[in-house]
Amino acid sequence: MANQEDNFKKVISHAKEYGYVFQSSEIYDGLSAVYDYGQNGVELKKNIRDYWWKAMVQLNDNIVGIDAAIFMHPTTWKASGHIDAFNDPLIDNKDSKKRYRADVLIEDYVAKIDAKIEKEVKKAEKRFGDSFNKKKFLETNQRVVEYQEQGKSILSRMARSLEKEDLADVKALIEELDIACPMSGSKNWTDVKQFNLMFGTKLGASAENAMDLYLRPETAQGIFLNFLNVQKSGRMKIPFGIAQTGKAFRNEIVARQFIFRMREFEQMEMQFFIQPGTQKEWYEHWKENRMRWHLSLGMGEDNYRFHDHEKLAHYADAAADIEFRFPFGFKELEGIHSRTDFDLGSHEKFSGKKLQYFDHETNRNYVPYVLETSIGLDRMFLAVFSNSLQEEELENGTTRTVLKLPAVLSPVKAAILPLVKKDGLPEIAKEVIDDLKWDFNVTYDEKDAVGRRYRRQDANGTPFCITVDHQTKEDQTVTIRHRDSMEQERVSISDLRRIISDAVDMRNWLKKI
Ligand code: GAP
Repeated sequence: MANQEDNFKKVISHAKEYGYVFQSSEIYDGLSAVYDYGQNGVELKKNIRDYWWKAMVQLNDNIVGIDAAIFMHPTTWKASGHIDAFNDPLIDNKDSKKRYRADVLIEDYVAKIDAKIEKEVKKAEKRFGDSFNKKKFLETNQRVVEYQEQGKSILSRMARSLEKEDLADVKALIEELDIACPMSGSKNWTDVKQFNLMFGTKLGASAENAMDLYLRPETAQGIFLNFLNVQKSGRMKIPFGIAQTGKAFRNEIVARQFIFRMREFEQMEMQFFIQPGTQKEWYEHWKENRMRWHLSLGMGEDNYRFHDHEKLAHYADAAADIEFRFPFGFKELEGIHSRTDFDLGSHEKFSGKKLQYFDHETNRNYVPYVLETSIGLDRMFLAVFSNSLQEEELENGTTRTVLKLPAVLSPVKAAILPLVKKDGLPEIAKEVIDDLKWDFNVTYDEKDAVGRRYRRQDANGTPFCITVDHQTKEDQTVTIRHRDSMEQERVSISDLRRIISDAVDMRNWLKKI
């Protein structure tokens, strides 16, 4: 546990030191759960957004994008259910005065049971070696089966109680499980209460005429409200999708995990409009498709898993998360939700406008069902960044800090380094930059010995270092050093564009989906 915490602290300080993520308003002591992206962070974030957008919009001829406003008519949130049901169940510890999400306390308890299961699996794997069958072990080992049943029964009781709004039973469950405040160890809890997560604001100059508004808590509703505009203007035929990326706001109560849970964050959402009755097959389709997108980045299959929801949101008839192994354990990275016709149906009711599709093949009108994929851009950033940050022991006994970002996402693709600051080498390096900068984000560095510059670029996540030396003047060749293997090769300047492009071009990565 201490190790996990240390690793996470390293991630946060590295993100600051290398210009990826800063605490918002730091000179005023910061604003809790609000963050700014620095010069490298903004590039990484943009690359992740582009990687998603290309996979969704450019590569699917039946998915188009929009950019809806953050402010929306307030009735939107009545219709969507957010005014009545977008709540977190909160509980306070009377001794430490700390506030928690009751469901998170219970889920963390179950995560500890899961960790015990994983420990048993690891032990058995060691014992049985190649003949180990994980699936069979999970089904037959008495202790592991008991752990699994225990976890399942806790989660389904919590889901039932939350569904029925039986908050007294949620508290009873916390007490029965003997859950203590993680800060103080105290078990002196208040009752569980619901708390709405939307931020309110006002539109209009004078107090009498001002209209109460909310900052959108999800981007999805901008897509629902534009469903007919896009369908008609784009002559879209079902099945089709609308994608959007943009800011969302939630007054999160438990916001202690850096950019994992923020009050202002960015979502990348896609609503796929389908014929009612086909939702099961599309649900499976998008679960698989999204998992393939994640795996295409090569961050390790073992770091992902699906988690099917026990407690369904008010709009869903099926839902699963893609969970990622963050520095603090497996947590939700993306949600795939079968939202039925809840949203369009409800907006029809509240607006009095028809939001239906006329199907020429069956000659009938219907309210489409919706399959949603929803991922937090900041959370994806944290997944990529934390997974990439590594301390490597080198053969000569030293260690190096290296940010092994998938090259396609790296903010800077290559650093151009003159071996020395004289003899015309800086001038050649600048010529190389002037040629490469049209295709790639590249940087120039001439300060310190070349070994230190390599380390700096390793820690920055730059996949290539290109060194201009005296031989360059003779034969127009340079050395190119690969961040991950640290191997160096001598190549012609005229080959640089092709070599970098092979490694970083989105086309090569997206083809793996
Ligand atoms: N439209 C559906 C929706 O918003 P959600 O599960 O509440 O569903 C989707 O959110 C994704 O948005 C999550 O999987 C997560 O990646 C991201 N997300 C949600 N709340 C967040 C927060 N407070 N900070 C950062 N990312 C968040």
